[in-house]
Amino acid sequence: MTSLLNLDLLWVTGKGGVGKTSTAAAIAEVAARSGRSTLVCEMDAKGALALALGVDELDFTPVEVAPNLHAMSMSTEDALREYLRLFVRIPFIGRIGPLAKTFDFVADAAPGVKEILSVGKLCFEVREKNYDLIVVDAESTGHIVSQIGAPKVIADLVQVGLVREQTQWMLDILNDADRTGVAVVTTPEEMPVTESSELLRRLTSETGAHPAVVIANRVLPVLFDRREQAVVDQLDAALPVLIEAVGPGAGAVLEAARFTDARRRTGAQHLGRLRSELDAADPPLDIPIITVPELFARNAGRRVVSLIADGLADELDVEIPSDQRANGE
Ligand SMILES: Nc1ncnc2c1ncn2[C@@H]1O[C@H](COP(=O)(O)OP(=O)(O)O)[C@@H](O)[C@H]1O
Ligand SMILES: [Mg+2]
Repeated sequence: MTSLLNLDLLWVTGKGGVGKTSTAAAIAEVAARSGRSTLVCEMDAKGALALALGVDELDFTPVEVAPNLHAMSMSTEDALREYLRLFVRIPFIGRIGPLAKTFDFVADAAPGVKEILSVGKLCFEVREKNYDLIVVDAESTGHIVSQIGAPKVIADLVQVGLVREQTQWMLDILNDADRTGVAVVTTPEEMPVTESSELLRRLTSETGAHPAVVIANRVLPVLFDRREQAVVDQLDAALPVLIEAVGPGAGAVLEAARFTDARRRTGAQHLGRLRSELDAADPPLDIPIITVPELFARNAGRRVVSLIADGLADELDVEIPSDQRANGE
């Protein structure tokens, strides 16, 4: 499983709110801690990645936020500028002023243009070997297929000439399972699991990109083993006595424990369903489902990311020096 970190480009996607940004930041952190020069890139420029990394803000120019860990936020306008500067050599490009208006006009008329610029920028960083690994905090399940699929759509539309050449090198990177992978983050709940399952099948059939792993985030720990379950049952039977002894709160505490355990079991069933749907896919999606526990951290952001990174380092079997661990084990 360390092989996940040996990719050149890893897309991290999933239903909104499941923990995509935190997980992408955590994977990047694990890679950086393992000594890999790593870039993590937020695609939707909403600022969540900056929050997760504990920095004020990110923009198109990567900054080093921790040793080996670089972060940026995608901008199609900046990607276009860079492209023109590097490849078209339009002089005085700086003086053209905001390209956004004209560009939006073109991009809205031609679907895939915005996507090809941002995907092109990432592929360019891969081709230039500027980093060992690039982790993308990508679009959510609804949009990721058109994002990763943009070079294929454009290549299919324009079979010859310059455009074909300009997209083929990207496809060579994106469709190579040794170089590019997709990590789908889900929570152990009905809708995220259903969306993840559908997405994993669409990715393979529509884009040529390779699913690498499912990350089940916010998985609750097993609360009771069989003996402890028997204790819970006994406590239940003795509830009147307990209430007598410690007050009416005893019932609520017992109820909370039962409720959490029921949620954990339902979650496990959803993940079980995901496993069987992946196995039943044609061809079967033989990818691992790794888990990240629900963290009971008081605040979001960097701390959560570092704890997720600790968990992932174990799951991915990555050696991290003990002074690099967030929980200080
Ligand atoms: N394993 C976890 N345990 C507890 N909180 C988490 C966990 N994963 C993510 N979170 C929290 O959930 C919220 C949403 O996470 P985020 O990564 O921004 O989701 P997304 O990018 O999918 O919208 C954040 O406040 C984050 O700190
Ligand atoms: Mg996010």
